[in-house]
Amino acid sequence: MKTPFKLHNVIKRYGEREVLHIDQLSIPAGKIYTILGPNGSGKSTLLRIMALLLVNDEGELEVLGEKVTWEKRQLLRLRRQMSMVTQTSFMFQGSVYYNVAYGMRVRKTSSRKIRSRVGELLEMVGMAAYRDADARTLSGGERQKVALARALAVNPRVLFLDEPTSNIDVASAAEIEKYIRHINQEQQTTIIMVTHNLFQARRLADEVFFIHEGRIIEKGPGELIFTQPRDERTAAFLRGETVF
Ligand SMILES: Nc1ncnc2c1ncn2[C@@H]1O[C@H](COP(=O)(O)OP(=O)(O)OP(=O)(O)O)[C@@H](O)[C@H]1O
Ligand SMILES: [Mg+2]
Repeated sequence: MKTPFKLHNVIKRYGEREVLHIDQLSIPAGKIYTILGPNGSGKSTLLRIMALLLVNDEGELEVLGEKVTWEKRQLLRLRRQMSMVTQTSFMFQGSVYYNVAYGMRVRKTSSRKIRSRVGELLEMVGMAAYRDADARTLSGGERQKVALARALAVNPRVLFLDEPTSNIDVASAAEIEKYIRHINQEQQTTIIMVTHNLFQARRLADEVFFIHEGRIIEKGPGELIFTQPRDERTAAFLRGETVF
C-alpha cells in the first residue's frame, strides 16, 4: 500500500506566528496513530493540512502517493479517499439515514447498496433505531456515532479523528474505540486521531506523536512513549503538568 502521507518542511503561519513546523514526517499505511499535545500546539492544524482542508504556507506534501499541487481535480480525488470526524460534528439537515448515505450518494453508489451499507453501519454504532430521526435533534454523543458511521460509509483509506469522543460518555467512547479498532483491522484503514484522553491514546495507538509548539518533539511506539518518554516536555505533559 502507498504511504498515505509524506511531509517535508511543512510550515503554517497565522500572521507572523508560526503555528506548525514539520521538518520530516512519513506515515505508513494501515496503522492507528494518535497525536498528543497541549491546547494550541498545532494538532488540528496538522490534521487539516493532511486532510487537504487547509493549505500550508511552505514545504511539500505527498498524499496517497501524489505530490499535492492543490489543483482542483486532484483535491477532489484525494479528499474522496479521506474522512474526518471532529469534536462536534455538523449534521446536514435531514434524517440520520440521509446523513450517513450522503457521501455514497455523491459518489453515485446504487440505492440498493446504499441501503444495505447504511443499515449495517447504523447497526454497528448502535443507532439503527434512529434511522429516520431528524439528525439535528440528536444528542452530542448520538451525533458522534452518526458522524462516525457517515465517515466510514465511503470506505475511506484514511480516517482522521479530531477529539471524536471528548463529548461523550465513557461507555459510548469505549464502543467508538471498538469500531475504530475494528475498521483498522478489517479494512486496513489508516487512522490518525487527536485525543486529550491519554488512556485512550495508549489503548489504541500503534504509534504516538507528541506535538509541542507546532513541532513533533517525540514519536514512537505507543507503549514506549508512555513508559519511557525521552523528552522532558513529553514526560511533564504525561504527568499532567503544564509544558513550557
Ligand atoms: N484561523 C486561524 N487564525 C489564527 N490563528 C489560528 C487559526 N487557526 C488556528 N490558529 C492558532 O494556531 C494554533 C494551533 O491551533 P490548533 O487548532 O492546531 O491547536 P490544537 O493543538 O488543535 O489545540 P486544541 O487542543 O485546543 O484543539 C493556536 O494557537 C491557534 O490559536
Ligand atoms: Mg484541536
